Amino acid sequence: MTTHWILGPGAIGRLLAHSLAPLNEVALISRRALPEQQVLTTPEGEQHSQRLNVFTVDQLASNTLKPPGFVHITTKAMAAEAALESLSRVIPPTTPLVLWQNGFLAQPRITQAWPGPVLCATTTQGAYLTGDEGVVHAGRGPTFIGDLNNQHGALSETLAQTLGEAGFTATPVGDIRQRLWQKLAVNAAINPLVALHGVRNGELRETAYAGLVAAVVTEVASILQAEGIQPPTGRQGKEAWLALVWQVVENTAHNKASMLQDVEAKRPTERGAILGPLIESAQRHGLAHEVLQALDAELAALEARF
Ligand code: PAF
Repeated sequence: MTTHWILGPGAIGRLLAHSLAPLNEVALISRRALPEQQVLTTPEGEQHSQRLNVFTVDQLASNTLKPPGFVHITTKAMAAEAALESLSRVIPPTTPLVLWQNGFLAQPRITQAWPGPVLCATTTQGAYLTGDEGVVHAGRGPTFIGDLNNQHGALSETLAQTLGEAGFTATPVGDIRQRLWQKLAVNAAINPLVALHGVRNGELRETAYAGLVAAVVTEVASILQAEGIQPPTGRQGKEAWLALVWQVVENTAHNKASMLQDVEAKRPTERGAILGPLIESAQRHGLAHEVLQALDAELAALEARF
């Protein structure tokens, strides 16, 4: 039986733990102690209570657990490297990692630094926490698995199969870099604006915000072109990116985006993982990025007041 360690007990981490636990050995690892009895609410509203193996990082060091087959890092993007560092003395450096972060910050850095295989996952599974013992699986969505250098196709297939048995719709892919940037593009057009203005996604369609969305997408589209990233719809250029963003706004009109939730909870946002790679790329390619830079500065100023 493969052992899966899940580092970061956020919504996706706990959804993964609940899903994998019936058929796999699972350890859910956090910085602070959590109750072992955990409740999952399914998209249909059913509640399943399950005893999970919950460890703090400190407890892991003093326990003799068998080495994990996979370590899933499910922290926020900016916490991923420190989280991995906290485990590096207890896992062999050949352990396969699975990075579940948004954006494109942790993935290239950890891929370069970690000696073992590093898979990346991008998912549209919707989940949120309801305290220390509850997670709600709000909506099902596909998950894609791959590695940035396309060297671990068989491992991605194995993991996708395991996730499939656990109830995820998971597909191994050879273009995970494209998919991570595509998600980042949508996140960059929605998250900073809704977080700064305190609005739900659907409100971006109002005249006060629609022009701002278009201004972000204009910069993002030329950066993505320079990075060789195509819109997932198969169409080309700024209009295709704009259409995709409006489609996601439509589909998630009632959502409070993750960055807005962070701002409301006075937590640091993922601006570094979402706006950071775009701004860095624009600078490298000599492309306009005033709008992105201004959003990043406004978010930084907001975070400084937390
Ligand atoms: O970050 C989020 O909340 C989501 O990725 C998205 C697409 C912006 C919808 O809320």
